[in-house]
Amino acid sequence: MSFPIDRPRRLRRTEALRGLVRETRLSAAGFIYPMFVCPGNKVRKEVSSMPGIYQQSADQIVEECREVEALGIPGVILFGLPEKKDARGATSLAVDGVVQKAIEAIRKAKLNLLVITDVCLCEYTDHGHCGVIENGEIVNDATLEILAEQALSHARAGADVVAPSDMMDGRVGAIRAELDAHKFENIPIISYAAKYCSGFYGPFREAAESAPKFGDRRSYQMDPANSREAMKEVELDLEEGVDVIMVKPALPYLDIIRGVRDRFDIPVAAYNVSGEFSMVKAAAQNHWIEEKRVVLEILTGIQRAGAQIILTYHAKDAARWLRS
Ligand code: PBG
Repeated sequence: MSFPIDRPRRLRRTEALRGLVRETRLSAAGFIYPMFVCPGNKVRKEVSSMPGIYQQSADQIVEECREVEALGIPGVILFGLPEKKDARGATSLAVDGVVQKAIEAIRKAKLNLLVITDVCLCEYTDHGHCGVIENGEIVNDATLEILAEQALSHARAGADVVAPSDMMDGRVGAIRAELDAHKFENIPIISYAAKYCSGFYGPFREAAESAPKFGDRRSYQMDPANSREAMKEVELDLEEGVDVIMVKPALPYLDIIRGVRDRFDIPVAAYNVSGEFSMVKAAAQNHWIEEKRVVLEILTGIQRAGAQIILTYHAKDAARWLRS
């Protein structure tokens, strides 16, 4: 059959028809909202390159978490800005570290919210790299112990899920073993399995004060040109016991999201990263694009590509728009 019998426009005539045949139904139930925790009390400092996103002390984080909960967003992911940094990121393990304290504060507020933590060293090291350094190299195996300890300290503070973003080899297995050895066998791991070395992390590095002081992250994050390698990364994480895998960034890597979705029977998350957010915000402020429309189109596209979980700085706005 073909035209004039076949007319795809028949199903586009009214919103009721379009709604009926819509293939992707975006919902806040898949959103995770990223937040930046800093020391102190009553601190709330906007990130200049990310309008509406703040570096906040734990008390303020709790207040915003109430809003996030009320909007029907199921979880937040926390990034820490510690008071002190050193070569090995020691403050990331402290019982009274920024993230650990924030988790406890959110717990105390008894919110119906998943607290996910980013597990990495770059926010805690004075050199800004995601691993420890020996002879000018970011060394893998010595970093694993610290990451595993960090994940354990997050779990002890009350985190629901841990999410390693460092891209060291073997970190999922190391974290799983450490959690299990301390009776945290029920804490899931979301791994940033396919994390690319991306220019789109720029604004995040201002927000998390985590830009590397020398060199770049090419020796551990993935080359943007590779897709088969992403499948291998996911496979390795699966062998090590990962629960959910993440692709990051989202927009230039929709093919990777689709590839992972088709090939593996595991929940897939995508991180709609800081640079993707800032571009939309900047263009919208200039009235070059319609923010609501573009954001919903972007998030729909990421979900359509195969991500059922989306980490996004737009989460609160999008949740509001989806409601009204
Ligand atoms: C830490 C980390 C980064 C992001 C999440 N975790 C930055 C990086 O790898 O440099 C980026 C998130 C964003 O851009 O929104 N390793």
